[in-house]
Amino acid sequence: MTVNNTISPKAKFGKNVSIGQFNIIEDNVVIGDNVVIGSFCIIRSNVKIKNDVVLKNHIEIRENTSIDKASFVDSYVAVSGSVKIGKNVTLRYGTILARGAEIGDGCYLSPRVMLNNLNQDKQQIGGAKLGKNCFIGTQSVLHHGVKLGSNVTVGAMSFVNKDCRTGCTYVGIPARLIKKKE
Ligand SMILES: CC(C)(COP(=O)(O)OP(=O)(O)OC[C@H]1O[C@@H](n2cnc3c(N)ncnc32)[C@H](O)[C@@H]1OP(=O)(O)O)[C@@H](O)C(=O)NCCC(=O)NCCS
Repeated sequence: MTVNNTISPKAKFGKNVSIGQFNIIEDNVVIGDNVVIGSFCIIRSNVKIKNDVVLKNHIEIRENTSIDKASFVDSYVAVSGSVKIGKNVTLRYGTILARGAEIGDGCYLSPRVMLNNLNQDKQQIGGAKLGKNCFIGTQSVLHHGVKLGSNVTVGAMSFVNKDCRTGCTYVGIPARLIKKKE
């Protein structure tokens, strides 16, 4: 388990955890049962990862982030600090989550989705907050501070700069409502 990995003695592991090579796992990380971690991942301090989560390769998860049960994190995902990721979430290849973002249970973020934050001139606004079961199309950008209800769909390559209502579909730059909840 420790071949070519740098693992803090203060990190805690559940049962049946599988770890590849060249990973860094920092202090007070807590990893649940049956978690699979690929290679070249950095897991910063105080990150909590629940049971049955899969992390592929070349992932960075920054401080104080939590990932709930059975979520899947694809390669080259980057997660800033203090992000909350729910159960059964899928984060596809190359997705970036800004500090403070919240991803509800069952959400699917397609490849290269970007959640922005704002951190300038003493102003700090964290990443978007998504309800449950949202689908975000590939290469979309969710602007800092926006809130999405549950079951929201965002089309590919959209720029979402306003809150999105539960069950509705939004597309385009800036994103416009194309389908209301029935
Ligand atoms: C948003 C989406 C789900 C809508 O699908 P749909 O309900 O079948 O909608 P339609 O194809 O009927 O399109 C409705 C309108 O929205 C427009 N539209 C659809 N998707 C769009 C998008 N991503 N960006 C801009 N406009 C879009 C269509 O051109 C159409 O406009 P019009 O009425 O002016 O002609 C789909 O287009 C989409 O983007 N899916 C995401 C695909 C993806 O990223 N997959 C990742 C796989 S890993």
